[in-house]
Amino acid sequence: MNLQCTKNMQLLINDESTCKKDGICANECPVAIIRLKDGNGFPEMVQGGEGICLLCGHCVAVCPQGALSHIKVPIEECPPILKEVEISEEQAIQFLRSRRSVRFFKNRPVEKEKIQRLIEAARYAPTGSNSQSIEWTVFTDKTEIRNLAGLTVEWMKNVREANSQAIADFPYIPMIIAAWEMGMDVVLREAPALIIASAPQKNTSGMTDLSISLSYLDLIAPKLGLGTCWAGLLQGGLTSWKPLKDAVGLPEGHSQHYPMMLGYSKYKYFRLPERKLPKINWK
Ligand SMILES: Cc1cc2nc3c(=O)[nH]c(=O)nc-3n(C[C@H](O)[C@H](O)[C@H](O)COP(=O)(O)O)c2cc1C
Repeated sequence: MNLQCTKNMQLLINDESTCKKDGICANECPVAIIRLKDGNGFPEMVQGGEGICLLCGHCVAVCPQGALSHIKVPIEECPPILKEVEISEEQAIQFLRSRRSVRFFKNRPVEKEKIQRLIEAARYAPTGSNSQSIEWTVFTDKTEIRNLAGLTVEWMKNVREANSQAIADFPYIPMIIAAWEMGMDVVLREAPALIIASAPQKNTSGMTDLSISLSYLDLIAPKLGLGTCWAGLLQGGLTSWKPLKDAVGLPEGHSQHYPMMLGYSKYKYFRLPERKLPKINWK
């Protein structure tokens, strides 16, 4: 490949022997920082573009000729989309519909290598302005996870005592406390692993970003033989109960939004349960 760095910018590299000067990269750039050079029609990044570039790699991904690379998103690190791996709509629907919330786990630890693979897949989820600011806090010690469940129950007891309206709003709280006192963990379901995605509080799309990432992880987990469940009760405690926040110990300045339990599912599912029809307000 005859790669040449264009003169007045450092980030874009195009292979002039294959570039068709079709301008697709320039038209598709989400922040409009690519233009075709006046003289020879090859794409270049506008002056100052480096500071605006999202590093999203669209310019590299959209070029049919593979003529464009980017110093920070090199074409060598952007594999081609393989036709033979594409799935049909029917396959995609079954894939989405067969994801289940798993609440009963085998008493088997989850290999860190598998958790790493799940997180590697989840990092391909979209993030606002391609910020990719999510960090992952992972618990794999069942005793520590049980401790977090216990602290959540402690928070519930505190809520019960401090605010009688809370019980009206969350009628399941007394049942969860009673179950815990009988030795049953309904909070974290004796999950062997717990994943908490967090993002900087100052990132305005952070909580959405991490929810989408966790959804990716949720969807891919069964492909590694694993099951997940969103941990809403733990989330409830984390919003206000300091002992629980301290025990979780997120990175400085970070917030979470719904942790996720992870483990090998005790049960298999054989059917796709129906859901409500969508309520669409066409305008
Ligand atoms: C944000 C969120 C929080 C949830 N929290 C809990 C939880 O704390 N405990 C639990 O057992 N299930 C929890 N769930 C799972 C839901 O109950 C479940 O998604 C729903 O019943 C549908 O079942 P399915 O996920 O198998 O389709 C949560 C789900 C979401 C999306």
